[in-house]
Amino acid sequence: MTRGKLLYLETFGCQMNVSDSEKILTLLKGVGYKPTQDPSQADLVILNTCSVRAKAEEKVYNHLVQYKGLKRKKPGLILGVGGCVAQQEGVRLLANVPHLDIVFGTHNLHLLPEMVRAAEEGERLAEVAFIDNETRLDLFPVDDRTDGVSRFVTVMQGCDNFCTYCIVPYVRGREISRRSADVLDEISGMVEKGVMEVTLLGQNVNSYGAKAAGEMNFVSLLREVSKIRGIERIRFTTSHPKDFSRPLIDCFAEIPQLCGHIHLPAQSGSNAVLSAMNRGYTREEYLGSIALLRAACPGIQITGDIIVGFPGETEDDFRATLSLMEEVRYADVFSFIYSKRPETKAAGFTDEVGKDEKQERLDRLIVLQRRITLEINKGFVGTVQKVLIEGESRRGGQLFGRTSGNRIVNITADASLVGSMVDVVITRGYQNSLQGELVEE
Ligand code: SAH
Ligand code: SF4
Ligand code: F3S
Repeated sequence: MTRGKLLYLETFGCQMNVSDSEKILTLLKGVGYKPTQDPSQADLVILNTCSVRAKAEEKVYNHLVQYKGLKRKKPGLILGVGGCVAQQEGVRLLANVPHLDIVFGTHNLHLLPEMVRAAEEGERLAEVAFIDNETRLDLFPVDDRTDGVSRFVTVMQGCDNFCTYCIVPYVRGREISRRSADVLDEISGMVEKGVMEVTLLGQNVNSYGAKAAGEMNFVSLLREVSKIRGIERIRFTTSHPKDFSRPLIDCFAEIPQLCGHIHLPAQSGSNAVLSAMNRGYTREEYLGSIALLRAACPGIQITGDIIVGFPGETEDDFRATLSLMEEVRYADVFSFIYSKRPETKAAGFTDEVGKDEKQERLDRLIVLQRRITLEINKGFVGTVQKVLIEGESRRGGQLFGRTSGNRIVNITADASLVGSMVDVVITRGYQNSLQGELVEE
């Protein structure tokens, strides 16, 4: 009996890439590849890459070096690179990495089965052409998995915002919304297979439908999703503060399944920096949206992204960011040191913030955020939270799930509860999670 062909797939970067990796698995299953966790067993290795910061890109080259040895031992091994670094570098990657066989861009997943077949015949090839019309999202397979209770559903791809630091518009292309009928069909299919929670996914979901004639907007899409029978929880990510409209804020009061959590990246608390970043809102407007959100959904958990050391960021600008964080009281913040990216507008700005200063600012920011996160987590002690149990925790004998506000909770309970929504009383608040106990009926 043949063991079939094995695929080792490594995913870097954001949820968009995680979601694309699921599609890659489905596509390659169709041509006989089964996933393996062991690269030394693989017939095909694919790296799905991220280039949002220089470090993410360097990681890809480091990993590629490691596969050189493996390929020497196993000359038939096919090595492919997809995702945002592949899109950025294109055919140059094939020239620079002689042991690489396949390069496929962010719009070309559907070509992968063909490309793998050609590589099996010894070809080396790159496909990175953008497909800038709505047929692009029809080319990717829908999610056909039958396990799990929580799923991401792509509703749009690409980005038209051109924040001056960001490479995403260049590697993901123009913003395109998927047809609402297709989104709703996919979610209905998932719910029939037992899914209870969906997260609508896109670089900027708030502008869903804006460019498509006759398409519904994001608020209408949310309302339609909430009408699907059996859907218990709805989330969405990522939102852009400039498109965070009043009707969208009202959804948090009006749609019962919409979870009490929002990821709303501010990037900076200084108006001068926000303007240089081309973010399209002020600190005051951002804080105004947060106040309305808290009024619409008391207890809502807010998370965000912050960049420190943007070109020209002064100590006062940075302090404005810290004070914004104190005012918002984020449950969590993903914080990054500014990284200069090719093609972006900010790459041409004078980078006045020194390396040590950037690091020192990041350290201060992290200390502040850890304090706020711990205070928030401890504040949950004694409350009862609805928790969707997702699986067994890494801590032995425990299960884990998330609250509506997206806080991770560990509980000691029987594994039969995986996939159910339970009431949990919070007993401890830690830095990265909550500990709880099942409320007995
Ligand atoms: N579409 C999402 C995610 C973009 S990438 C959004 O708009 O929020 C995720 C985060 O990476 C960004 O929010 C930003 O904080 C960070 N980021 C993007 N480009 C960066 C750069 N050049 N240097 C440092 N951080 C960056
Ligand atoms: Fe990048 Fe800005 Fe688009 Fe987000 S909104 S992906 S930060 S350009
Ligand atoms: Fe990275 Fe591409 Fe996502 S650059 S953050 S994987 S869209």
